[in-house]
Amino acid sequence: MKISRRNMLKISAGAGAGLLLNELPAFAQQQPQLMRAIPSSGEMIPAVGLGSARTFSVGPPNPEWVPLGDVMRLFHEMGGRFFDTSASYGTSEQVAGQIARELGIQNDLFFATKISTGGGREVGIAQQEESFRDWQRDVIDLNQVHNLRDTDIHLRTIRQAKEEGRTRYVGVTTSFGGQYERMEQVLRTEELDFVQVNYSLGEREAAETLLPLAQDRGIAVIVNEPFNVGRLFGAASGRELPDWAAEFDCQSWAQFFLKYILSHPAVVAVIPATGDPEHLVDNMGAGIGRLPDERTRVRMEEMFDDL
Ligand SMILES: NC(=O)c1ccc[n+]([C@@H]2O[C@H](COP(=O)([O-])OP(=O)(O)OC[C@H]3O[C@@H](n4cnc5c(N)ncnc54)[C@H](OP(=O)(O)O)[C@@H]3O)[C@@H](O)[C@H]2O)c1
Repeated sequence: MKISRRNMLKISAGAGAGLLLNELPAFAQQQPQLMRAIPSSGEMIPAVGLGSARTFSVGPPNPEWVPLGDVMRLFHEMGGRFFDTSASYGTSEQVAGQIARELGIQNDLFFATKISTGGGREVGIAQQEESFRDWQRDVIDLNQVHNLRDTDIHLRTIRQAKEEGRTRYVGVTTSFGGQYERMEQVLRTEELDFVQVNYSLGEREAAETLLPLAQDRGIAVIVNEPFNVGRLFGAASGRELPDWAAEFDCQSWAQFFLKYILSHPAVVAVIPATGDPEHLVDNMGAGIGRLPDERTRVRMEEMFDDL
C-alpha cells in the first residue's frame, strides 16, 4: 500500500507503531533491508541510510517539521539506522536530534556526525560536545572529519573520544573531486573505520581509485550525494525506466540510482537525503531485493550516459 499524504498526517497525528506498520508498503513488511558489515568490526548495519544536509536545516518547531518527523519515523520503521549529519548543516543536527528524541529512537539510530571547522582544535572539540548535547547521547557512533578540514587536528580529537569510549568509529569525508588526491593519501596513511565520498551514476570518478583503495584497506565506504544532489532526477525526467530494471527488483529511478551504488563491492552504505516521506519510502525500496550484476552495471552506465 502506498503511503498517501492523508495517511502521513494520520501517522503524524499520533497513530501507534502497530498502525504505522499497516501503513507501510507490503515489500517493507515482507523483506528485510540489505545489511552490510563494517570491515573494522564486523558489525552489520542497514545499507540504506539517511542524509540531512539542507533537508533537516529548518527553523524552530513549525509545520515544516511534520514531514521530517514522518521521514525519520518511517526510516526507523522500515529498518533504516544510519543517520548522517554535521555540525555545519545549519540546524540539521539539532532538529534531527530533537525529532529522534521525541520519537524515542535516538539511541536506536546509528548516529554519524562530523567535525567541520578550519578554526582549530578547541572549535572542533566544542562541535563534538555540541553533537553529544544535540542528540542527548553519551556515545557518537561515527564522528568524521568533514571535507578534510584540519584533518590531523580533528582526527586526534575523534580518536581520543574513541579511546574514552565516547565515539565508536572514526572517519573522514569529501564530496569534491579536487580533494581526491589528498583523500587518497589520507586513506593510505591513516587508520580509519570509515570514508565518505560522493559517487553516483552522474559522478563515477571515486570508483577509479578511492573505492578500491578503501576496500583494500578495510575502510567502510559511505556514499554521499547519491543523486548528485538531485540532478540525476533531472537527467531522467520524462524517461521511462527500462524493462530490464525489473531484473534487479527496481521500481523507480531513485532505486535505479541507489542500487547502482549499492552494487559496488566497496560500498557499505548510501545516504540519500529527503524531506519527503514518499521519497523516503521509495529510497528504502533500494535496500530490498536483488542488485544489478557487473554486466548490468555497465548497461546502467551506458544508458545513463545516453540520457
Ligand atoms: N562532504 C560531506 O561530508 C558530504 C557532502 C555532501 C553530502 N553529504 C551527506 O550526504 C547526504 C546526501 O547528499 P545530498 O543531500 O547533497 O544530495 P542527494 O541525496 O544526492 O540528493 C538529495 C535531493 O534528491 C531529492 N530526492 C531524494 N529522494 C528522492 C526521490 N525518491 N525521488 C525524487 N527526488 C528525491 C531530494 O529532494 P526531496 O527532499 O524533495 O526528496 C533532494 O533534492 C547529505 O544530506 C549529507 O548527509 C556529505
